[in-house]
Amino acid sequence: MRVGVLTGGSDCPGLNAALRAVVRKGVQEYGDEFVGFRDGWRGVMRDETVTLDIPAVRGTLPRGGTILGSSRTNPFQEDEGVERVLGTLARHEVEGLIVVGGTATLGIAARFAEEHGVPLVGVPKTIDNDISLTDYTVGFDTAVGIVTETIDRLHTTAESHKRVLVVEVMGRSAGWIALHAGLAGGANCILVPEQPFSVQRVCEWVESRFRATYAPIVVIADSALPDPAEIALPGATPLPGSDSRVRLSGVGEWLGKEIERRTGKESRTTVLGYIQRGGSPSPFDRWLATRFGLHAIDAVHEADWGAMVALQNTRITRVRLVDATASLKTVDPELYREASVFFG
Ligand code: F6P
Repeated sequence: MRVGVLTGGSDCPGLNAALRAVVRKGVQEYGDEFVGFRDGWRGVMRDETVTLDIPAVRGTLPRGGTILGSSRTNPFQEDEGVERVLGTLARHEVEGLIVVGGTATLGIAARFAEEHGVPLVGVPKTIDNDISLTDYTVGFDTAVGIVTETIDRLHTTAESHKRVLVVEVMGRSAGWIALHAGLAGGANCILVPEQPFSVQRVCEWVESRFRATYAPIVVIADSALPDPAEIALPGATPLPGSDSRVRLSGVGEWLGKEIERRTGKESRTTVLGYIQRGGSPSPFDRWLATRFGLHAIDAVHEADWGAMVALQNTRITRVRLVDATASLKTVDPELYREASVFFG
């Protein structure tokens, strides 16, 4: 069978592990030939391919990034994008396509499957862990590990200087990285986009932590925002940016200054940014990506088009791409409440 493969959206650790598993099983057990598309949907649109065979994936299990490259190109928003994608797939006689991506890339895949009958299967990846119907996505565990290690390190320097340390982490519209790493690293306050926060309350937690003679660590997701009612109060410092609701990154710096202004405690902010996405995948991500890859190529050979492989209660299952991409998986308020016992 001729199988096309692409990785789209923001990169994350574990993508190569998934590609390696797809190719190893495809070639060894099914006798497949692969066409690697460069830079996500853009490569399919432009007919740009990369050799994808067993030698190409050898040694890539621990390697971060993606050997195929990635982009956020959406063919549905490009001139004749859809026709060009269909043309490329026909030219290469692709009989099945494996799409490794996050919510946007997989959403595009769902449309190609539904509206144009493209035979494809999805693999969920993103450090944000916000894809529905799978417990975890490839890349999330590595990001949580990196943030946790950072929090551990920040505890010691915060203690030495009796400072507040604010750590801003990624997550887009979901607070999964903040919640998991905040719990694992013993943060004194975790702020997620799903729950508008009270700056007043954060300052109270900071002060109570100092009273217990420890320096506080505040973990904030890059799209977490204060309660708009509180921020509109006279004397409050406005958030940076004209439309702060769509702003990603910057809120950590703002909060650090606001804490310092209100409590008089010296504050510093660390923005982790792309460090969370770079480098080698954790053992769990290698395991998850490998198993997703093995199951994805099986789904191709069973012609289970429109399926997405998923992790549900330790089992690899299949769900429908349309369902998985219909809405984002966000932090359950109950989970957040559970973590709040450690705040302050
Ligand atoms: O989706 C993963 C992610 O890292 C988000 O957490 C972040 O907001 C976004 O990608 C940044 O993407 P870009 O690579 O386009 O800057």
